[in-house]
Order: sequence, then structure tokens, then C-alpha cells
Amino acid sequence: MTKSSAPGKIILFGEHAVVYGRPALAVPVTQVHADVELSASSRTGIWIYAPSINLHAELNRLPSDHPIASVIHNFLFLSRVSSFPNLEIKIDSTIPVASGLGSGAAVTVALTRALSAHLNYEMTDEEVNAFTYEIEKLYHGTPSGIDNTVITYARPVYFIKHPASPFKRGVGGEVKTFQVGKPFTIVIADTGISAPTKESVGDVRKLWEADKQKWERVFDQVGGIVKQARDAIESGKWEMLGDLMNQNHRLLQEMAVSSPELDRLVESARTAGAFGAKLSGGGRGGNMIALVRPENAENVTSALRKADAKNTILTQVS
Ligand code: MEV
Repeated sequence: MTKSSAPGKIILFGEHAVVYGRPALAVPVTQVHADVELSASSRTGIWIYAPSINLHAELNRLPSDHPIASVIHNFLFLSRVSSFPNLEIKIDSTIPVASGLGSGAAVTVALTRALSAHLNYEMTDEEVNAFTYEIEKLYHGTPSGIDNTVITYARPVYFIKHPASPFKRGVGGEVKTFQVGKPFTIVIADTGISAPTKESVGDVRKLWEADKQKWERVFDQVGGIVKQARDAIESGKWEMLGDLMNQNHRLLQEMAVSSPELDRLVESARTAGAFGAKLSGGGRGGNMIALVRPENAENVTSALRKADAKNTILTQVS
């Protein structure tokens, strides 16, 4: 049997503007993960069993654009494995779908690594990342590449997308890690509303197309916040970092990717004493994050629950 696992992720700063070449900061969230188990099977075919999405089917019975089927078909194409053995593939994920925690990219990374190990087709992290980016493009339109990158490498990243180039396939961006001066604590809270990233990214694109000058200025402001945030993280200045989160949230509201539910959670975290809070990821629903003092984490978490958070995760970034 071959096993593989990939974490969820959360964007700390810079979502949406990252699609337009500005930097963004993201970290893995190991409390949630996608897990894949591959084993040889006596049944003919490739059987996929994914209880969390109620799926139990043979590969060829799935539409070819089904996300899991397309990972396997693309892997077969890439690896050119001539005779494919009978397989049982079990996929489990604790990452909520369409909530900004990278569920799709995590399943792709874990499944690709499991296939690569089981079928002796070696892949480097760069290759897994590039492959996952190609799959992300099938489902998310124009992703920046930050989700697949932070999930593949499972470490904090400072990410800048490559300028679009017909000659440059693959990873999609420049990846730098950043030093966390002192570990810091974040509460992640879920609105429980699933919101496809593709839609919010598409709506921001419409705004940008209608007034490029204005939105380039806004994206520049976000880029400035991200750079200051990296410095604040490296030097452990939490009050400054919280304030930068609030500023980033305001700009995301201006991009019309927040929602009343996200705003309510952000407000309640701030009132309960968080240094700052913002939506995270595509927005409209999904998750928000709040930067907290460890000793105040419980207080902020219970305020978020009272403000209707459907789930909360406490995580330390180090
Ligand atoms: C989604 O997690 C982050 C966005 O910036 C989209 C992307 O970077 O591909 C909204």
C-alpha cells in the first residue's frame, strides 16, 4: 500500500492582487489534510473510493472532467505508464470544500504523490507543483499558483506570480520562504458558505477590465501591505501585523469579495481583542482569519462561534 498526505493552506495577505502580479503570503494548515491510500486490487480497473464526497466508482465511469478523474488521466498521460495495474484508490479529506483552505489542490498533490510512488514514476516537488498548477487551471480559470505552491512545499511562502508567458508552463510563480521571527497564533473561522474561487476571481477581473488604472492602484496598495506584513512577521511586530490585516480586509471589501457573514466574523474577532482580522482566500464565503494573543485565543474563538462561525481552527505559524 502507498500512502500520501497534503495539508490545507491559508492565505495571510495578498489574495486576488496576487493574480495581478503582486506578492502574497500563505502558510500550510496541518490541522486539516487530504489523505490518499493506493493499493493493488484484484478487481479489474481503477476503483476510486472517496467517502467524504460520496464517491465510489471505477475511473472510466466518471466524466473525464471530474476533478479526481482528470488528475488520474493527466498523470497517466504524463507518466506514459503503458500497462496500468488494477488499483484501489481511497481518498479522505478533512479540508472543507470551496472554503479557501485549498481542498482541491491538496487532493491533487496527495493523489499525484501516491500515484508517482506506487507506479515508480519519480517526481520532484517542482514537478508535483507544476502538475498541480495545470490541474488548478482546469478548475479555477486564472489561478496565481499560490495554493498549489504552499501545499506542495508545506511551508510558509512569499509568492509572486510569473508574468503570463506562452513559453512558460508550470509552477506559475516565484517562491520565497520567509522567516517567522516569533511564532504567532491565528484563529481560522468558517462562514460555512461555500464560494467557488473561480467566481470571485472572475468578478474581480471584470472590475479590473472596466477600470484598470484604479484597480492597479488598489493592487499596488495590497502589494505594499504584503511587503510590510512580511517585515512585521520577520520582526515579530504583532500589533502592526494586525493593523495590516485590517487594512488588507478593507481593500478586499473594496474589491467586493467580502460578504456580510465574513464582515460579521471579522468585526467580532476585533471586538474580542484580536490584533486584526481579514477574510482569507477567494472570499464571498469560506474562511476568515484573526491574529490573536495565545492567551486570548479562546475568547476570540468563542466570540466567532457566537457570530455564527460554523467551524474554527486554532493554528500556530512558526
Ligand atoms: C485563492 O486561494 C487565492 C486567490 O488569490 C486566487 C489565486 O491566487 O489563484 C483569490
